[in-house]
Amino acid sequence: MTDLTEPVVFPQDRTCPYHPPTAYDPLRGTRPLTEITLFDGRRAWLVTGHALARQLLADPRLSSNRNRPGFPMTTPRFAQVRDRRLALLGVDDPEHRVQRRMVLPEFTLKRADALRPRIEEIVDERLEAMIAQGPPADLVAAFALPVPSMVICALLGVPYADHDFFEEQSRRLLRGPTAADAEAARTRLEVYLGELIDRKRKDPGDGLLDDLVHQQLRDGVIDRELLIAMAIILLVAGHETTANMISLGTYTLLQHPERLAELRADPALLPGAVEELMRMLSIADGLLRVATEDIETGGTTIRAGDGVVFATSVINRDESVYADPDTLDFHRPARHHVAFGFGIHQCLGQNLARAELEIALRALLGRLPGLRLAVPAEEIPFKPGDTIQGMLELPVAW
Ligand code: HEM
Repeated sequence: MTDLTEPVVFPQDRTCPYHPPTAYDPLRGTRPLTEITLFDGRRAWLVTGHALARQLLADPRLSSNRNRPGFPMTTPRFAQVRDRRLALLGVDDPEHRVQRRMVLPEFTLKRADALRPRIEEIVDERLEAMIAQGPPADLVAAFALPVPSMVICALLGVPYADHDFFEEQSRRLLRGPTAADAEAARTRLEVYLGELIDRKRKDPGDGLLDDLVHQQLRDGVIDRELLIAMAIILLVAGHETTANMISLGTYTLLQHPERLAELRADPALLPGAVEELMRMLSIADGLLRVATEDIETGGTTIRAGDGVVFATSVINRDESVYADPDTLDFHRPARHHVAFGFGIHQCLGQNLARAELEIALRALLGRLPGLRLAVPAEEIPFKPGDTIQGMLELPVAW
């Protein structure tokens, strides 16, 4: 049992971008469930144990519906857009199953493998452009952001020419200066994708959005509003998260020269390294649910209406599952981490993300043997704790 007198406030900023916030240290290795306080003063439960996390993430008594009373709001921004339709991630079964089935065929391992040659082309092209203009370069702007952005555009059928617009709106939605700013960004994304969908109705292309538009025209399964909501989550989740993994993954490797040398010497370690980086970095740190019924767990009752938050960074360092959990080790079986979530909402894009990460890191390390930070590590800004974790900038030289 913890001997905390005051509940920890969630979320907290990290002090090192690849370690959980030190403020969560008292929660580590104590008990798998603790009370926390959210920004609005409300209490919620924080899950920190690995076994309990997987059990609860698979429990249908925990809902992802943001409009249910008691749903935990972790930032004012998030509270501001809670009533906007959130496809997939904000929907419970049976509706969730219907939505997921519509898009699942595009996200299988087979589809991700088929996309590899195109991803390789994109990665090579961005790397060439970066090399032509540097050194130095900001790896975020020159590589980590454009690669996943171009990949998801190709997959969805969104024109990459509009990338400045939608990357900026995604940034504002996920970490804009005010809640009103986040809401306005969400509206701009809705208008933009609504217009794109209307154009596709008249002049169809061959992306996933085009397929969904056709499906709608053919049998009316999805309405326009749901199509827009689907497009938003796929576009935003499809580029922001992977971009952060590429930037923070590279930073973490550069801060672990022995591991980096090991990886350069034996690229066959890459898939294991990607998995271990996913575990170690846990960039989506705070998955959110609300209980719809009382849930008894290990002597504690999560009451109906209680908010439940999953601290993936702490869960993925549970000592009972991962020996020496703060150490980066490409040989450990890291696969059971919850960095992609678990249960029905487990990341739809995980096969694609793994392929992108592998290809991006392989090219970066292969092409740039002298890759290094261009400024001292302490000067490099990273993202605050209330959003997806990653680097704001990553000045590199080679
Ligand atoms: C390394 C990069 C990524 C990370 C760390 C990540 C992380 C996650 C996590 C943790 C969840 C579960 C959230 C929850 O249960 O509350 C999730 C769901 C989701 N992710 Fe990813 N993701 C990544 C890449 C992608 C990509 C490339 C796509 C492409 C479209 C994507 C699309 C989605 C979607 C649509 C969901 C919701 C699935 C559902 O509710 O059924 N993600 N992701």
